[in-house]
Amino acid sequence: MVKFLKISEGSEANIYLQNILGTNIIIKYRRKKNYLIKEIDEDLRKHRTKKEAKIMSLAYSSGVDCPIPLIVSDYSIYMNYIKGNNLNKVLDKIKDVKFMQIGKLLYTLHKAGIVHNDFTPANIILKGTKFYLIDFGLAELSSNAEERAIDLLLMKRSINKRQYSHFIKGYSESNPFSKEVNDRLAIIEKRGRYQDRSLSLK
Ligand SMILES: Nc1ncnc2c1ncn2[C@@H]1O[C@H](COP(=O)(O)OP(=O)(O)O)[C@@H](O)[C@H]1O
Ligand SMILES: [Mg+2]
Repeated sequence: MVKFLKISEGSEANIYLQNILGTNIIIKYRRKKNYLIKEIDEDLRKHRTKKEAKIMSLAYSSGVDCPIPLIVSDYSIYMNYIKGNNLNKVLDKIKDVKFMQIGKLLYTLHKAGIVHNDFTPANIILKGTKFYLIDFGLAELSSNAEERAIDLLLMKRSINKRQYSHFIKGYSESNPFSKEVNDRLAIIEKRGRYQDRSLSLK
């Protein structure tokens, strides 16, 4: 019998680790949603699975360190296993300057015309000295400054000031659109502060 080891159960997908012909493979399986009509649920899951694999594949071929989608079926993506630690588990253990590499990782993704939309430490794996980006479930094809700035914002909220200063240095180095994205981030943050203030006045 084939043994599947479930290593994670997220809001949409289960992640299994399986050894196939001596190689460790990750299987990301999108679960059924019982509250949806069967046909709609199936169409949605097929669409999202195909889209995630397509974007992951584009990211990989554009030089982003990420898994390679090896096999794609209706509801599953088979990809190589990145044996390491989720960044959120080792945040305080790594040197601040290492965050430059993570900034570069995001720049490579944005340069490829992709925004991640869930760029948080839980979706980055540290393997040896290298960082890998995973979970393209919410990713979109976009070169929009506002959407790019949201990727920066999510990371900014997850790490400390010193870590972020290295991160943004890595992102901005020889990046022709970094100024536009950083300016946009400042606008989003101002908007956020304004909203917070007006809420507290109520
Ligand atoms: N290719 C991979 N290699 C190693 N671990 C992985 C891989 N893909 C997913 N994981 C593990 O499974 C977890 C959940 O996968 P993820 O794609 O982020 O799904 P979710 O959409 O549920 O967040 C990750 O945080 C990571 O620990
Ligand atoms: Mg995830």
